[in-house]
Amino acid sequence: MQNEKLRTASLRIFHFAFLIFNFLVRSDTILNTRMSVNQETGISEELRRRFREARRVFVLTGAGVSAESGVPTFRGGGQTAVWKGMPFDKISSAGMLERNLAEVWEWFNYRRDVIESIAPNAAHLAIERWQDRFEDFTLVTQNVDGLHQAAGSRSCIELHGNLWRARCIWCEAKYDLRNGETTAIPTFTCEDCGNYLRPDVVLFGEMLPVGAYELAAAKAKDAELCFVVGTSAIVYPAASLPEIASAAGAYVVEINPEPTPLSNLCDEVIMGKAGEVLPLFEL
Ligand code: OAD
Repeated sequence: MQNEKLRTASLRIFHFAFLIFNFLVRSDTILNTRMSVNQETGISEELRRRFREARRVFVLTGAGVSAESGVPTFRGGGQTAVWKGMPFDKISSAGMLERNLAEVWEWFNYRRDVIESIAPNAAHLAIERWQDRFEDFTLVTQNVDGLHQAAGSRSCIELHGNLWRARCIWCEAKYDLRNGETTAIPTFTCEDCGNYLRPDVVLFGEMLPVGAYELAAAKAKDAELCFVVGTSAIVYPAASLPEIASAAGAYVVEINPEPTPLSNLCDEVIMGKAGEVLPLFEL
């Protein structure tokens, strides 16, 4: 009994010491990083070196990367997405799809209308250039707007689908909505089986597309340098990808004008707009 108490007490002390050690290491990293930061660019010398030398680079983007193109983000910062007074997580939910498919289509048609005239911004274009710069480059997005592809990114893992696609609720056949059929959508049915079509995006309460997360997680685990750009990092499993990268030893960098729950885990946080910060890496 005495021995058992002793063992528990030493385990507690060890655990406490470990927490303190972790905290000190983390604050030291942040302090060192701050000391060597270039005042004009906000990028540290350490990060510049890593960017020059990295072979395997992983980028996770969220709504913030498209904000400077004029696409409303979901949370925080002014222009936030709402539809007929309904919060986006209600109208974009699996329950809503069952209750009122036509209204879900109306909301997604509206989102496509907003995006149709919008062009990629300097952040999308910088990321597009990075794909040829590194030996192994992975782009993963939570965005459904297709702006990375419009910027020329050849390969993009879309965790939450794409606004420009529809799929059959029954046989899963996919349809490209860029070919002018968009106006007929609420009543548009599958050419193969006659069932209704739905937006090919992940709604609240639904699983991610098969294989997309698994592939992204494998790439995150393998990365040397991981950028987390314009995401509030509260929607999982997407937000777990930088955690995976960090746990596997990658240097993790966040680019966002606001702090997020991931900021503390990052080796560097650059507080700024993606379209202004990302092009600075190539200077
Ligand atoms: P959010 O709207 O939750 O977060 C946008 C983030 O972008 C915030 O942290 C902003 O501070 C940041 N931001 C704003 N302007 C920026 C700029 N110019 N440059 C860089 N960052 C900027 O968007 P996501 O994190 O993408 O899922 O949201 C995740 C998921 O929640 C979405 O994919 C969507 C939503 O529910 C589904 O629809 C399934």
